[in-house]
Amino acid sequence: MARGSDMVLTASTIAAISTFAVLYLPRFLSPPPLSLPTPSHDILHRAETIQLPAAFGPESLAFDPSGAGPYTGVADGRILKWDPSSSSWVEFAVTSSSRKECTRPFAPELEHVCGRPLGLKFEQKTGDLYIADAYFGLLRVGPQGGLASKVVTEAEGLPLYFTNDMDIDEEDDIIYFTDSSTKFRRRHFMPSILSGDKTGRFIKYNKSSKEVTVLLRGLAFANGVALSKDRSFVVVAETSTCKILRYWVRGPNAGEVETFVDLPGYPDNIRRNSKGEFWVALHAKKTRLADWLLRNTWFGNTLLKIPLSSVQRLHALFVGGHHAIAVKLSEDGQVVEVLEDARGKQVRYVSEVEERDGKLWIASVMMPSVWVYSLH
Ligand SMILES: *[C@@H]1O[C@H](CO)[C@@H](O)[C@H](O)[C@H]1NC(C)=O
Repeated sequence: MARGSDMVLTASTIAAISTFAVLYLPRFLSPPPLSLPTPSHDILHRAETIQLPAAFGPESLAFDPSGAGPYTGVADGRILKWDPSSSSWVEFAVTSSSRKECTRPFAPELEHVCGRPLGLKFEQKTGDLYIADAYFGLLRVGPQGGLASKVVTEAEGLPLYFTNDMDIDEEDDIIYFTDSSTKFRRRHFMPSILSGDKTGRFIKYNKSSKEVTVLLRGLAFANGVALSKDRSFVVVAETSTCKILRYWVRGPNAGEVETFVDLPGYPDNIRRNSKGEFWVALHAKKTRLADWLLRNTWFGNTLLKIPLSSVQRLHALFVGGHHAIAVKLSEDGQVVEVLEDARGKQVRYVSEVEERDGKLWIASVMMPSVWVYSLH
């Protein structure tokens, strides 16, 4: 009798645990459906893939003033240019002069030696390419390419430690850029997010006076940057809080900051299209596990000492399965379009979306390819 009830108890406990595991864990671990006022279209898998042979992680894309490119920065520190006539990538520039060891496509332990170009932007009037290199700061290279030179390496006495993205106001000769953290380097982006680091900065560089001004500090992983079409404000992605901020640079609210939009995922780069709308690349959707981790940073702090080799595994757990998502915002911060590859069949972990001539050029910091999606 007693043994029988024990068995029933054990069996029901196992059943309860299995039910929990089957019903709850996947929901806890995998991305939830998006709850946005705009319907999402699961169509990005139709994009065409352009591989990067022997290169990895094209984070940002930029076209030069003649429309050639795109150019992209990869994990070994090079900036490559797409040549459509030969369907190949050619070397354009580098951010480090000591490249002897920079032979592997992905070697995070060498990023401080080889450089890691993230955000790219051409200055249209000069043809100069500006580069936010995660390890070397804000750099510039001329239209002929080659070795980039340093433009800004510190702000308020603190070195740029994780320079990430930028935009240029060409009329005022101002460059707006982000430094994601003053404590964590790019290769430790997961510990940076999980520890709740809030040392990110949004910075302005005046080309004429060479003055560097910190406009916002204490940001939770400052990331993508885009100037509005009328040049009155700049949008700045705060990755860990899933927010886009709006910083007013002109008009009655100049110097003020507000939330532009809350997103259901982690925003990376932001690029404006010709209409003045903003394409926001979401690195991944917010899962319940990720949400829990971000609320319980004590747990994240216990993970800080993990070896670099485990960062990929931690990332896989955090994002909960392959997927891609890109969100278009109107000039006033409404979500007007949502495109996905919900199962990551073709496109995964989008880091930038650049709209050009009816096409979306899509980049990923975590993949060895770029994709082209035709809007029409
Ligand atoms: C940039 O610096 C120049 C020269 O000091 C100054 O005249 C100009 O107002 C500055 N621009 C901005 C937007 O701060």
